[in-house]
Amino acid sequence: MDTTPASLPWWRTAVIYQVYPRSFADSNGDGIGDLAGVRDRLPYLRELSVDAIWLSPFFTSPMVDGGYDVADYRGVDPMFGTLDDFDALVRDAHAAGLRIIVDIVPNHSSSAHPWFVSALASAPGSAERDRYIFRPGRDGEPPNNWQSIFGGPAWTQVPDGSWYLHLFDPTQPDLNWENPQVRGEFSDILRFWLDRGVDGFRVDVAHGMAKAPGLPDITRHRTGMLDTTAVPYLDQDDVHDIYREWRKILDSYPGDRMAVAEAWVPNPVRMARYVRPDELHQAFNFDYLTAPWSAPALHRAIDESIAAVAAVGAPPTWVLGNHDTVRPATRYGGLDRARAGALLMLALPGSAYVYQGEELGLPEVTDLPEEVLQDPVFRRSGGTVRGRDGCRVPMPWTGAEPPYGFCVSSSAPSWLPAPAGWASLSVAAQSGTAGSTLELYRSALRLRRSLPGTALTWLPAPADDVLVFAREPDFVCVANLGPAAVPLPAHREILLTSAPLAADGALPPDTTAWLSTSGHPEHRP
Ligand code: NOJ
Ligand code: CA
Repeated sequence: MDTTPASLPWWRTAVIYQVYPRSFADSNGDGIGDLAGVRDRLPYLRELSVDAIWLSPFFTSPMVDGGYDVADYRGVDPMFGTLDDFDALVRDAHAAGLRIIVDIVPNHSSSAHPWFVSALASAPGSAERDRYIFRPGRDGEPPNNWQSIFGGPAWTQVPDGSWYLHLFDPTQPDLNWENPQVRGEFSDILRFWLDRGVDGFRVDVAHGMAKAPGLPDITRHRTGMLDTTAVPYLDQDDVHDIYREWRKILDSYPGDRMAVAEAWVPNPVRMARYVRPDELHQAFNFDYLTAPWSAPALHRAIDESIAAVAAVGAPPTWVLGNHDTVRPATRYGGLDRARAGALLMLALPGSAYVYQGEELGLPEVTDLPEEVLQDPVFRRSGGTVRGRDGCRVPMPWTGAEPPYGFCVSSSAPSWLPAPAGWASLSVAAQSGTAGSTLELYRSALRLRRSLPGTALTWLPAPADDVLVFAREPDFVCVANLGPAAVPLPAHREILLTSAPLAADGALPPDTTAWLSTSGHPEHRP
């Protein structure tokens, strides 16, 4: 029984599954995942019991940064298929009860975007240049000391001596959001995809776009994407005006269209500013994602995020990983912890994100050969930072050999090699296998739909490294992050555990249990 009030918009409690299209399923055997591959696998996602699919970029792109370098915001890159394939995917997804969220990349375009091509061909001070951030240098040096988030200076010089800003790769020039044409174009792009039926947007670098007036030098550098040090080119107040405009566009469409901010900001209070009632609907909870496997740290992250979003009337969101971060099975230090962490996260009230492969317990691939690494971070750091390819390895679907059914034909190698030893992690190997991570996720996602309440109440824990909370009236989650088994709190029924209980019924280390205090939730009156 779904106890969520029917009047709540879907995204307040949704589980949103992130598809990284390049690595999900390859329908034509060229070694690269594509939209038709996603469409083929809709039954899998439906059976997993997720509510929506967020598609990382599939737009026309030179793919220097995995498609976060967009050359045509309204076009599908031939590598991924066609606009017809996209429309068919939306149609089939909707028919299967799944919503579709697309990625919008407004902070920067690709340097192959016609706007940037014409900016380079035009004179300093021209209208074409004004869509980007061109400045004269300082005595042959860049206009200021900002650093690219991928390493190296954030400015590149063009032949006439001017410099342009790129917070990421030099092939990702920052757009000038003070230019009305830029604003108007993105409003149109939103409408273009809304008209095609998308249910929402994931906003890339949502804390970008607005830069402090005068582009002042910084005193402290950010060390990478996950660093949240305050800097004059991120999380500026003016960015919120953009979201107020966008909210009006989203609200002008029927059917609870939504947007989620990707904003690496210093704390949950700054994060909550993106989800004020007239701005975006959700923001990724990176504070939770980056919390270590520690009961006090997760307890704090949970409390602070719930309090911050409650203050503005937004639901909390939870996330354990994405295409930029080390997979939880590796980051938390083992599959047991990833499984316990998944049950902990999925028990929290609000909305949750699952990154493809988490439901299989995939580890980070740490030994990809250097010659296959594609992340621009690897090159720009002079090879000192390996980058994010290790969480982008193609999904294993079936079979004994790489790429494990990822490609329709096994002759083509996948764009990143899948490691030996993943046969037992494949979807086919885990489907129907008692105790597999996939079956754990399937059970958890199904049960999650009927968990009561939209708030949590902390209960006394048997030890400092154990988290126990209730969702009233009759659900209790207990996560043991410590080294010793602990007794379960009072309950009527064990709904699900991330690992078998000890012989005496105790909850082992690195294990989470879902309990009912009144019997199975589906049997409640
Ligand atoms: C965040 C995206 O998730 C990441 O993959 C990308 O490199 C940067 N934004 C730049 O667009
Ligand atoms: Ca393909």
